[in-house]
Amino acid sequence: MIIVDFQNCFIFILVCFFSLLCYSLIFRKPKYPRLDFDLPPSPPSLPVIGHLHLLLSVLIHRSLQKLSTKYGSILYLRVFSFPVVLVSSASIAYEIFRAHDVNISSRGFPPTDDSFFAGSFSFISAPYGDYWKFMKKLLVKHLLGPHALDRSRGVRAEELDRFYKNLFDKAMNKESVDICAEALKLSNNSTCKMIMGRSCSEENGEAESVRALATEIDALTKKILLANMLRSGFRKLVLTLLRREMMDVSCRFDELLERILVEHEEKLDMHQQGTDLLDVLLAAYRDENAEHKISRNHIKSFFADLLFASTDTLVQTTQWAMAELINNPNVLERLRGEIDSVVGKIRLVQETDLPNLPYLQAVVKEVLRLHPPGPVFGRFSQEGCRVGGFYVPEKTTFMVNAYAVMRDPDSWEDPDEFKPERFLASPRSDQEKERREQAIKYISFGSGRRSCPGENLAYFFIGTAIGVMVQGFEWKIKEEKVNMDEAVVGLSLTMAHPLKITPVSRTLRSLT
Ligand code: HEM
Repeated sequence: MIIVDFQNCFIFILVCFFSLLCYSLIFRKPKYPRLDFDLPPSPPSLPVIGHLHLLLSVLIHRSLQKLSTKYGSILYLRVFSFPVVLVSSASIAYEIFRAHDVNISSRGFPPTDDSFFAGSFSFISAPYGDYWKFMKKLLVKHLLGPHALDRSRGVRAEELDRFYKNLFDKAMNKESVDICAEALKLSNNSTCKMIMGRSCSEENGEAESVRALATEIDALTKKILLANMLRSGFRKLVLTLLRREMMDVSCRFDELLERILVEHEEKLDMHQQGTDLLDVLLAAYRDENAEHKISRNHIKSFFADLLFASTDTLVQTTQWAMAELINNPNVLERLRGEIDSVVGKIRLVQETDLPNLPYLQAVVKEVLRLHPPGPVFGRFSQEGCRVGGFYVPEKTTFMVNAYAVMRDPDSWEDPDEFKPERFLASPRSDQEKERREQAIKYISFGSGRRSCPGENLAYFFIGTAIGVMVQGFEWKIKEEKVNMDEAVVGLSLTMAHPLKITPVSRTLRSLT
């Protein structure tokens, strides 16, 4: 007679089940498509989580740069079972953007939620398709293309003048300036005016809440992007934990934007046809026959995207530029000499002066090379492809380490040094060759069809903000040198110690 000990049997089954679970989590290889192909090399990984720990580093661009120096400029990583290809050299970056641009023209974020950022209405995370094309056309025509930028030049000139006068007052009162805070006001006021025809009011706290929202959106987006790399079960869990934060920021943003939309609609109802981007988007929303049907949520999400994409990038670059200039007095003197000789000492530098200020343009480019505000950005392969002699399977995320590409010693001489001269054009015969070479290795604004549409605006904004600060003032710091330690906040590369410096006006009267 067989006597069954039910208690032992139960324990035995539990042990078997647990062992199977451990085996499947730790030893079983994840199911990658076509593993037999020649994947890029992969550094040692941890059981289960794979290379996740490498992506959690505080200065992610630097730890990934070290990794590529040790293991190679194209690497195959995995976060749980989520495949990631890390690109760290100019030659590999060039190959993916030139040979596979269409294939990698989506970012591959699964629609997270109906929140207004990184959600299903977002332009930045939209797949490359009809919706993206429709919005991109509007963006270029009504905000960021050359003609639109010509039309909005007056708006930026007004804000720049306000920025300068504020610095002048501080100089007269011998007050120090938090460069980030001042650049943030300039950038938010300029972009809000360009997008919706008015800046956000300082009086009723609207401006403050837009600035706070821009910062929160940045931090939250990083969390959402990381969550999207987890296995679907974990992803759902983390996104559920983030949901409250997402909905809180989304609701505050919704409240603010709904107010602004209603204001614009009232204007439209009174037949005052406006021409800013928001007016155009509202017209498309009301048009039954529009090329692509957009909802109110699309408009709100688009505004959130633009705020997210423009705020920190402009502000941080302005701050890094001033820090580099103060630490490199020879560059500062040469730049000031150029501005004094081209613009003079009576009127303020303007956007239309920029083509005549090649050294100023070179300074801005060099700052963006050394301190790209988006040091790592992502793309997604729709189909399998060959890169650098290796096979990259379909549905793989490409992480492009722009920081490493722009400090790649194989492409840049003295890659860690601040040398704006490297961007000055040489004699005419070499110009075309140089332009082509730079297009390969200079990727501060990304590359290909999903590259940054705000590049021209960024050069105008940073060029004039730096121009005004150098033309109008000498700058004093307490220490001998500015501390250039880095920090990554949200997705942006920022200064660990925000720059506080004191302006001393170079003229007794303010420039006009
Ligand atoms: C210093 C300033 C800036 C830098 C360094 C920068 C950098 C970047 C980078 C690296 C990307 C990803 C490109 C890629 O995937 O190839 C991007 C995308 C984008 N940027 Fe910028 N950006 C700046 C300013 C701006 C401004 C001022 C705006 C608009 C007002 C803007 C709007 C966008 C948008 C909408 C995208 C997404 C494009 C798409 O997915 O199709 N950016 N930017």
